[in-house]
Amino acid sequence: MCGIVGFTGQVNALPILMKGLYSLEYRGYDSAGIAAFTGHGLEVVKTKGRIVNLEEKIREAGNPYSTCGIGHTRWATHGSPSDRNSHPHLGGPDGKVAVVHNGIIENYLFLRQQLEKHGYVFQSETDTETVAHLIDYLHTGRQEDLAQTVLKAVGLLRGSYALGVVSMADQQEIVAARRDNPLIIGLGEGENMIASDITAIISRTRKYIILDDNEVAVVRPDRVTVYNQLGDVVDKPVQEVSWDLSAAEKGGYAHFMLKEIMEQPRAVSDTVRPRIQDGHIMLEDSGLTDERLRSIEHIHIIACGSALHAGMVGRAVIEDLCRVRCEATVASEFRYSNPIISEKDLCIVISQSGETADSLAAMRQAQAAGAFTVAIVNVVSSSIAREADGVLYTWAGPEIAVATTKGYSAQLAALYLIAARTALARGLLGADQEAEICRDLLALPEGIRQALDCVKTMQCLASLYSNRSSVFYLGRGLDYAAGMEASLKLKEISYVHSEAYAAGELKHGTISLIEEGTLVVALATQERLFEKTVSNIREVASRGAEVILVTTDEFDGDASVCKSIIRLPTCPERFSASLSIIPLQLLAYYIAVERSCDVDKPRNLAKSVTVE
Ligand code: AGP
Repeated sequence: MCGIVGFTGQVNALPILMKGLYSLEYRGYDSAGIAAFTGHGLEVVKTKGRIVNLEEKIREAGNPYSTCGIGHTRWATHGSPSDRNSHPHLGGPDGKVAVVHNGIIENYLFLRQQLEKHGYVFQSETDTETVAHLIDYLHTGRQEDLAQTVLKAVGLLRGSYALGVVSMADQQEIVAARRDNPLIIGLGEGENMIASDITAIISRTRKYIILDDNEVAVVRPDRVTVYNQLGDVVDKPVQEVSWDLSAAEKGGYAHFMLKEIMEQPRAVSDTVRPRIQDGHIMLEDSGLTDERLRSIEHIHIIACGSALHAGMVGRAVIEDLCRVRCEATVASEFRYSNPIISEKDLCIVISQSGETADSLAAMRQAQAAGAFTVAIVNVVSSSIAREADGVLYTWAGPEIAVATTKGYSAQLAALYLIAARTALARGLLGADQEAEICRDLLALPEGIRQALDCVKTMQCLASLYSNRSSVFYLGRGLDYAAGMEASLKLKEISYVHSEAYAAGELKHGTISLIEEGTLVVALATQERLFEKTVSNIREVASRGAEVILVTTDEFDGDASVCKSIIRLPTCPERFSASLSIIPLQLLAYYIAVERSCDVDKPRNLAKSVTVE
């Protein structure tokens, strides 16, 4: 996903912009650039590739000094990664306007054709350049400030945008605007900033304003003014970051991902503890009152990627505990499946970033159909968090690595809380059982911490198996859901093909892919399914597969055909996915390291996909 940063103040903006762009690298990008007011007017330096390439180009340009500028990391949507498609884009024949943009302008082609009729010449294939020329077209020759022009321009746009705009008309001013894409305004002393998220500017300020959809902000060194769609000034609450800069840094680990794997006990503890008071699960602040939980007839869990995999685990636990129909659906499928939704339904939308376009759109659709929506989100005041009817925050802290780990584990914990509270509200759990579940949830972080003791074993297994071209993950029930997440972890950071399979399903086709040396990871944490899983292990081992078994101390089956057995600490079966994922996150991480992959910023991936 693209990243935006902007600065206007009394000191050199370029080092601040570059630091901000480096902080945004985790979002995934393929090119970067800056625009700044220097002694030579409005200068743009941009390049395909990494930010270090941009730094080199800025050095070649003489490291210009500027007190106001904007920066961008691009994740290509319209037009391949290239220097000319990189942002910022200049507007007008003499480049008086520069624009950076996150999102997709759906009617850019029509606007481009209209602007070409007015003599505008396009340098790139991007939708963003259309916005730059449109602003120039609307601004030129009119006695109005840039903000008014930008308000007009965005009124003509269809689609999503977070915009940073600068113009030669005022070399201290940045105009920001957003719709369906996050953008915040950082508040400093004698300086102010814009950013896609706070990590880009936290080294300068912990105070920020969240821009809402269709608002436009004028950002100057000494003041920030926000306008609504009608051009009226609106007051905005000032937010303050609750974590410090170190939380967004590696802390001595080789990669953010390893740090965040190790942070999982704390992430789960911080998510669970505030919601258990005196042996009772308290979710009232998330809008999930007992009355509402009693009234729902159907639960839909909607999410993407790992969040969906957490939802698959949550679905099984909810149906098991609450005996209410629950399904986990891919957000991008939900939207176009003409879903059957009523006001008697609860929609749980899970999103670490709170900005995933598919999940946001699916939530809006569920709301329009009358369902009550509750968001499980890790980023405070993110779009999904602000638009949901209720929010249950995961307190995992900032997650920088593109591949989620602590975010996923905290989502599981949040789902367990919802399942238990729902079962209690519906009279399916008594006081004793509630107390027991509270004890189990409060003990979960320690179980995860113990599960992390397998680091060395997983590192060894990774060195043994890092050269495999494909890996299969087998499991039944909760173990299948956990296997889905384990498989995605491996794929997205090591680029090794992998599939998770319902263990009983393998024999219906895919077992034909098993050959001598195929790596199979079998998960078996559900005692009533041990025997079945052992049969599946034998099926693949007899065809040459090498099997790693992830199981529990209770497992007493014949695992003699397995190459390695990872035994998890004791924990209630229904919460086993929180433990079984730990060794498999580590396996994926160390295989990626063995394969010299860019673990924190895997190719083609973005931390949050804010486009469809
Ligand atoms: C997870 O490792 C992936 N980066 C990806 O699948 C992610 O879970 C998905 O894009 C959803 O993101 P969200 O949780 O921020 O909505």
